[in-house]
Amino acid sequence: MSFPDKIVADFNVDYDQKSLWIVLGSIAFNPIFWNIVARAEYNTHFLTKLAGGAKTGCYLLAITIFSLGIFRDYLYHQALEQQPTSILLSVTYVDIVKPLAIVLFAVGNVLVLTSMYALGVTGTYLGDYFGILMNERVTGFPFNVSNNPMYHGSTLCFLASALWYAKPAGLLITAFVSLMYSIALKFEEPFTGEIYAKRDRELAAKQK
Ligand SMILES: *[C@@H]1O[C@H](CO)[C@@H](O)[C@H](O)[C@H]1NC(C)=O
Repeated sequence: MSFPDKIVADFNVDYDQKSLWIVLGSIAFNPIFWNIVARAEYNTHFLTKLAGGAKTGCYLLAITIFSLGIFRDYLYHQALEQQPTSILLSVTYVDIVKPLAIVLFAVGNVLVLTSMYALGVTGTYLGDYFGILMNERVTGFPFNVSNNPMYHGSTLCFLASALWYAKPAGLLITAFVSLMYSIALKFEEPFTGEIYAKRDRELAAKQK
């Protein structure tokens, strides 16, 4: 067997496993869910009314998004368990792959946790849609190494698990995570940009 054939043969994904499609569904569902809910909140303030305040409403959404994330991670591990293991990743290159997985997991978590710390709960979980705006853009670490540390960090953690468990399917799922986040950003960035632009216009108008 030639080298590329061997790699192809080793990088198997079992598409017949339902758990694979379930985790892909969950990965797609989460950002769609929070974008729809956040925009509905922006337009109708239904969560603010339901919770009796913007901040409480945002915390409610934060808990929901956080729980959906935990559930998605659980589904990911379930899916990986049922997928074929790569000999290349688990035996041939294990001396590189395992330490790499540890480093990626650590970097990913540092990005996620430090960005949550820098933004706070409302800054992390779509507070701007509730009218809870940041006074100014956070530019310190981790925002000086990544423009979206939350999404990049989360993607790195998916990649780290794929490598740690030596699952080619995990690499595929990670690529899908990355794709979904980049689509989500296409919706989120212009929208939040406009929320802040509106605030700045209103501030400028007041000062006149
Ligand atoms: C990012 O900011 C931190 C301090 O907040 C600093 O220590 C670090 O060197 C900066 N990194 C880059 C790449 O600018």
